Amino acid sequence: MRLLMVSPEHFEVAYGINPHMRAADGSLKHVDRARAAAQWRDLLQTFRGIGIQVDVLPGAPGLPDMVFAANHGLPWQNEIILSRMAHAERREEVPLFRHWYEGQGYRIHDPFSDGAVDFEGMGDTLWLEPGRSLVGGHGFRTRPEVYQTLGRRFGFEVAPLKLVSDLFYHLDTCLCLLGPGAAAWVPQAFDAEGAAWIRARFQRLIEVDPREAKEGFAANAYCPDGRHVVVQRGCDRFVRDLSDAGFQTIEVETGEFIKAGGSVFCLKMALC
Ligand code: ARG
Repeated sequence: MRLLMVSPEHFEVAYGINPHMRAADGSLKHVDRARAAAQWRDLLQTFRGIGIQVDVLPGAPGLPDMVFAANHGLPWQNEIILSRMAHAERREEVPLFRHWYEGQGYRIHDPFSDGAVDFEGMGDTLWLEPGRSLVGGHGFRTRPEVYQTLGRRFGFEVAPLKLVSDLFYHLDTCLCLLGPGAAAWVPQAFDAEGAAWIRARFQRLIEVDPREAKEGFAANAYCPDGRHVVVQRGCDRFVRDLSDAGFQTIEVETGEFIKAGGSVFCLKMALC
């Protein structure tokens, strides 16, 4: 297990491309950069503390969302399918990741480079079995046609899930895989068909409280090993349910990043 994170020196909320980025009066939220840097460092140390190797790619000026490293592709073994970001504000991030992946010897696939459809990598896709089967969210960022391409061209088995609430605009904001047959989810983020698929697919399901999901990004937690769950601090009901289910929870503070619409899971790319 190895993760990639992007250092936060250029992180801020400079535009509003999801509803979390604006305050009730419509203005952009203000990020405290020093606090963001401290939160990011703690998260990095937390991952390293549970034995995970973490590589760091420097952030770039003018690309304030680059810290959300989960969004730029879908990796498995030494291959990666690059994203095509839905918003122009984030498109220049992808070549910087491409460069890093190339330097690490990854085989690069760029099937969405013609710009016809958008694909936001591991923001919207979660491996059930790396390189074989995955769940894929669509509705806000990734286009549903992407999943036909991933099936046809790469032979992946894909379960597409439609997202219906703009607060949960990426799959990783409302579905958290916790190991074989176990997951946490936010039911109101899915249409009826998707909800039925999730209920049938996972034997152990934790329902995330809507307030904890929205304000604490609880479902954006990360379980690297089927045992530890790293989660935003203060999601008390979720932490209790996880503990009752036998997981060891580690609470971290990611409040500055939640202002941009992301937390633990999307602040890293999981390289498998
Ligand atoms: N501001 C970023 C965006 O809207 C946040 C991305 C968070 N990533 C995630 N996978 N949830 O694109």
